Amino acid sequence: MPRSLKIVGLGGSLARSSKSRAALETALAGAETAGAETQLLDIRLLDLPMYNPDDDEPTEAAAALIESCYAADGLLWCSPMYQGTISGAFKNALDWLHVLGDRDPPFLHDKVIGLISAAGGTQGLQELETLGEEVVRVAARFAADVSLHRQAECVHAAERVATVA
Ligand SMILES: Cc1cc2nc3c(=O)[nH]c(=O)nc-3n(C[C@H](O)[C@H](O)[C@H](O)COP(=O)(O)O)c2cc1C
Repeated sequence: MPRSLKIVGLGGSLARSSKSRAALETALAGAETAGAETQLLDIRLLDLPMYNPDDDEPTEAAAALIESCYAADGLLWCSPMYQGTISGAFKNALDWLHVLGDRDPPFLHDKVIGLISAAGGTQGLQELETLGEEVVRVAARFAADVSLHRQAECVHAAERVATVA
C-alpha cells in the first residue's frame, strides 16, 4: 500500500477564537477526506519568537515548524487579512523558514501550497474542503511525475477550486 501524503496546515491567528484557524481546519478535513495524513501548525500554539537574523538558532517550536514544513508533501496556509495583507504573526512564521535556504532542495521548492485568507467577508466552507482535496490531488501528481509543468498544474487546480459553487 502506498504511503499516504502528508499535508501540513499552517495558520490561524493569536486570537483564542480564530476564524482563520477554523477555515484551515476545514481545508485540512478536505485533505483527510482525500486520503492524506494531516498536521495542524497553529500559530497561537506555536508561540514563535520573532525571527532575528543575528540569532536564528531555531527554538523547539521553530524547529518543529521548519521540519514539518520541509517534510510535507503539500501545505495549506491560512492567515487573517490584516491591513490588506497577511498578519504579522503569520509573516513571522514564514520568516523562520528562511533557514531552509541552505538545504538541497532549498526552501519549500516545488511543494504545492493552498492559500486561504480569512477577512471581513464570508467564504464557502465547501470551497475550503475542495482546496484541501486539490492540494492532495496535485501533491500526488507531483510525487508521481517529476516532469510535470508545476505552474500549469497549480493554475488548473485553482480553476477547479474557483468553479465550486
Ligand atoms: C489588526 C487587524 C487588521 C484587519 N485588517 C483587515 C483588512 O484589511 N481587511 C479585512 O477584510 N479585514 C481586516 N480585518 C478583519 C480580520 O481579517 C477578520 O476579523 C479575520 O477573521 C480575523 O481572523 P481571526 O478570526 O483568525 O483572528 C482586520 C482585523 C484586525 C484585528
